[in-house]
Amino acid sequence: MFTHLAEATPADWAAIDRDRAHYDPAGALLSLHDALRGLPTYGYSVNVYDHTLQAASRAARDGASDELVTAALLHDVADELAPMNHGPAAAALLAPWVSAEVRWLLHHHSLFQNVLIARPAQAEEAARAWAAVSGHPAAALTEHFCRSWDAPAFDPGYDPLPVSELAAVVRRVVGPAR
Ligand SMILES: [Fe+2]
Repeated sequence: MFTHLAEATPADWAAIDRDRAHYDPAGALLSLHDALRGLPTYGYSVNVYDHTLQAASRAARDGASDELVTAALLHDVADELAPMNHGPAAAALLAPWVSAEVRWLLHHHSLFQNVLIARPAQAEEAARAWAAVSGHPAAALTEHFCRSWDAPAFDPGYDPLPVSELAAVVRRVVGPAR
């Protein structure tokens, strides 16, 4: 076995490639999501775990595609890891398995969310930031995602789908390591 990467032999790489088959990206993403379960609400009416269950359930109940339900469940999964950059982080995590449109949505969703939540002092800046990117073909879908599934998903009385049902959707979208 090598101690310096440059010394790895073809046999070493063959063994590494065999082990890659055991990677489980869907399981890893769902573990990351499950780790949100115990987080505080940080002043919101529900915590980010319940928020994402609600957003994904709303998308599923509206008949959204599996990709969009997956995006709704995982769009805030990096909230703790990268609070200032959680949209691009979620886009990167799901990039191999979702369309360019859904990647764009994940990357940019907080820009439109800022428009929805802006207080008067920030409204102009939020509108300008969104206007700068909203000519993109995925902008209308992103607005729909935020208005219909993300923004309303702070309701403590909402009854979400079982997480097992949402996890099954993620497993249909997120395939094996590649
Ligand atoms: Fe959200």
